Amino acid sequence: MPIETHPLTPHFAARLTGIDARQALSRQEVAAVEAAMDRYAVVVMPGQDITDAQQLAFSRNFGPLEDGANSGARDTELRLPTVFADVSNLGKDGDPLERDNRRRLAALANRLWHSDASFRAVPARYSILSGRIVVTSGGNTEFADMRAAYDALDAATKAEIEDLVCEHSLVYSRGQLGFSEFLTDERAPMKPVRQRLVRTHPVTGRKSLFLAAHIGTIVGWPRPEAMAFIRDLMEHATQPEFVHVHRWTQHDLVIWDNRTTMHRVRRFDDLNVVRDMRRTTTRCDSPTVAQAAE
Ligand SMILES: [Fe+2]
Repeated sequence: MPIETHPLTPHFAARLTGIDARQALSRQEVAAVEAAMDRYAVVVMPGQDITDAQQLAFSRNFGPLEDGANSGARDTELRLPTVFADVSNLGKDGDPLERDNRRRLAALANRLWHSDASFRAVPARYSILSGRIVVTSGGNTEFADMRAAYDALDAATKAEIEDLVCEHSLVYSRGQLGFSEFLTDERAPMKPVRQRLVRTHPVTGRKSLFLAAHIGTIVGWPRPEAMAFIRDLMEHATQPEFVHVHRWTQHDLVIWDNRTTMHRVRRFDDLNVVRDMRRTTTRCDSPTVAQAAE
């Protein structure tokens, strides 16, 4: 079957067919996915009914896997191995989490625009999200194109932000929703890390805004001034013209480039319906600013 890429908007998000994610990928297939990612930043592969092992094998084609993304839950509470980010609404028993469950409350920050793992010194490259059980009402994932958002800034703003560095932490994103009940041993990995606000894509050379709800300040700025400016940039970057909405079909495998996009999940009836989504995440090669890696 030939590999085909169908753009979902002229420059952002594409559907890719002709690759079976259950099978070992050839070098040409890996290159085709990467080429589509470099061009469109979000790639939707429909009809990929994969197992956890197949998802891991597929993901490893695109860099080393990140581990331990389920911060906010004790290992004993986890439904999936720590190499998965469990972005379902389910507990170990397979039932929806209770309303005041800590993991559920922490995960509500996924409804804020963010880039996965920007709070790690070496941030995420690709996120690969498998829709095992999807919901029919709500629960869309929205993506915003941070390359187009950067391009649309005026020259003065581009010059001002070129060398700015932000501090990112899960404490900041969860704190926006009033979640602050971190356990003592969770706080150490939440120490803020520094990331450039403007990134350059290593293959295309395109610049993009590296924004996320995880940002808590700009280095060297008074915090309120930094956060007011970050809010302005967030508002600019998430205008409808930069956004693609993904409505899930069961067995969609959706890949996004965290270096060049933000995303958020929309509200759904998570106390009553089952949404089983499993994410694997690959890492970048290096930090965005000179600092010690984790
Ligand atoms: Fe996310």
